[in-house]
Amino acid sequence: MRLFTLTATLIAAAGLCLGTGPATASEGGELKASHFSFEGVYGTYDKAAAQRGFQVYQEACSFCHSMSLVAIRNLGDPGAPFYDEEHPNPNESPVIKAIAAMFTVTDGPDIEGDMFERPARPSDYFPAPFANDQAARASNGGALPPDFSMLVRARAHGPQYIYSLLTSYADEAPEGVEIRDGMNYNPAFKGGMIGMPPPLFEEQVEYSDGTHASVEQMAHDVVTFMAWAADPKMEVRKRMGWMVMIYLLIFALLMYGSYKAVWRDVEH
Ligand code: HEC
Repeated sequence: MRLFTLTATLIAAAGLCLGTGPATASEGGELKASHFSFEGVYGTYDKAAAQRGFQVYQEACSFCHSMSLVAIRNLGDPGAPFYDEEHPNPNESPVIKAIAAMFTVTDGPDIEGDMFERPARPSDYFPAPFANDQAARASNGGALPPDFSMLVRARAHGPQYIYSLLTSYADEAPEGVEIRDGMNYNPAFKGGMIGMPPPLFEEQVEYSDGTHASVEQMAHDVVTFMAWAADPKMEVRKRMGWMVMIYLLIFALLMYGSYKAVWRDVEH
């Protein structure tokens, strides 16, 4: 029977692969209830939402926030927003090539020692909006816009927290709360005061699939995109978790069968 206990432990361990991590402590602000397609053990990224989220990132966030760990070609990897089954190699995908063509990157030095600009290729990483952190702070009243690559995982309740942050700006702070110059009132942010001005307003982007671009919709979509960026292998990992579970289950049945067969003539 010990074998059984061991197998059960292994199944439980494989089950952990499917989890999305502990959801306990909060960032200190008020969280709004929100639900995402990628939650839970069956959850996958809603590709249409992630594609719209990429558009929101491009048009509403990318001039302040970098995403330096993500290469343009990653957008076409399996499980990514722009994965194309007909072109599993993202470097050859027309969609990814078209996205790369939207960017210009700095390269060099050339033969004369000068840096130069050129159109991006799928293998390039997302270009950063500022040359360094100091330049980023100088343009944002001293506050540093954090890099998006891992941000969803770097905050407790990442998706809910960022969704709440983006949808909780209020023009007026409640009485007794003093907002310093250049700061904005946002009850989802720890302390209620954030250096980021409200980044989203109604119909800021025009979605090509006809979805109405409300602030809530854009926040939901950009969080889906950011969640993918922070955990691009989630779908592959969950699939693997299920395969391991099924394998272990079959293994346990086989073991039980052979245990019965081996001991069938022995009194025990
Ligand atoms: C004008 C520049 C600017 C734009 C545009 C902008 N942000 Fe920010 N963002 C900032 C700054 C500055 C901070 C740091 C705020 C602070 O520490 O007070 C920040 C912080 C954040 C944080 C982190 C909060 C935390 O817990 O530390 C998130 C999440 C965020 N922004 C999301 C977004 C999203 C999503 C968009 C696009 C829809 C966006 N931002 C657009 C400047 C910007």
